[in-house]
Amino acid sequence: MNYRHAFHVGNHADILKHACLALVLEHLRRKATPFVVMDTHAGRGRYALDGEEATRSPEWRAGVGRLWDWAEAPPELGPLMAAIRAANEGETLAAYPGSPLQALHGMRPDDRLTACELHPEEAGALRRRLADDPRAQVHERDGFEAMGALLPPPERRGLILIDPPYEDRDLDMGRSMKALKRALVRFGYATYLWWRPLKDLREIERADAEITSGGLVKALRADLAVDRATPEGRLVASSMLVINPPYTLEAQLGALLPPLAARLALSDKAGWRVEATAGAG
Ligand SMILES: C[S@@+](CC[C@H](N)C(=O)[O-])C[C@H]1O[C@@H](n2cnc3c(N)ncnc32)[C@H](O)[C@@H]1O
Repeated sequence: MNYRHAFHVGNHADILKHACLALVLEHLRRKATPFVVMDTHAGRGRYALDGEEATRSPEWRAGVGRLWDWAEAPPELGPLMAAIRAANEGETLAAYPGSPLQALHGMRPDDRLTACELHPEEAGALRRRLADDPRAQVHERDGFEAMGALLPPPERRGLILIDPPYEDRDLDMGRSMKALKRALVRFGYATYLWWRPLKDLREIERADAEITSGGLVKALRADLAVDRATPEGRLVASSMLVINPPYTLEAQLGALLPPLAARLALSDKAGWRVEATAGAG
């Protein structure tokens, strides 16, 4: 386990996943019934943008760095930017909130967060950060295994974010699919947000067809590319599969992704896609 999210924090991939997360949370808050958020690969929670890792690999400058002062940002970016602003005290962008902090920002007092993180240092840092928040439980354990053990939750309502590091892409794709298929049997009405690096289009299409059983499971795929993706090149594109998406999400992402792709573009090969599977309504 060499992956450290601090090197990549706030990049285009984080923006796609956290924008989707913030919009789904906004939708979940519309009903009074409490919900649970399960973050299977949570990271350390908060990242200083002047920290050693973020300074050595400043991917965030071409990501959240381009959004911080974006006066004409589309309203669909509002929930994500509110979470980022809440993690920064002043006018200067100094820190980026990871998914557990983003989730807590979008949750109410009776909602609950289950955050799993396998790396001891990251899990320890997250536990210390969330120690005073009674809504949060941090587990130093395998997030895929936890999906099998902890779902369905007593709330029977919620979202599961699956965001593995893909140090071994085939391994994490396979483990995600296996855990997702099992979870869908036990907790089929939750919303699942599964983030994937987009390097090989056919790999993503095959995975999505398998997970949605050819359209039997409702899902929405959202892709964001800041340059032309190549199988062995650096990460310039990523894809979110949202299973059981809120009915509002397709239109929201359709409005958000075109200006976002233009804002984050590194070349004229930047692009986006929002596509519902056949079963989605
Ligand atoms: C992409 S990062 C997560 C970023 C976080 N979700 C966010 O959006 O801020 C992946 C994290 O998963 C952790 N990890 C790796 N394998 C894991 C596993 N099997 N179960 C839980 N966490 C794991 C890594 O240590 C790393 O912190």
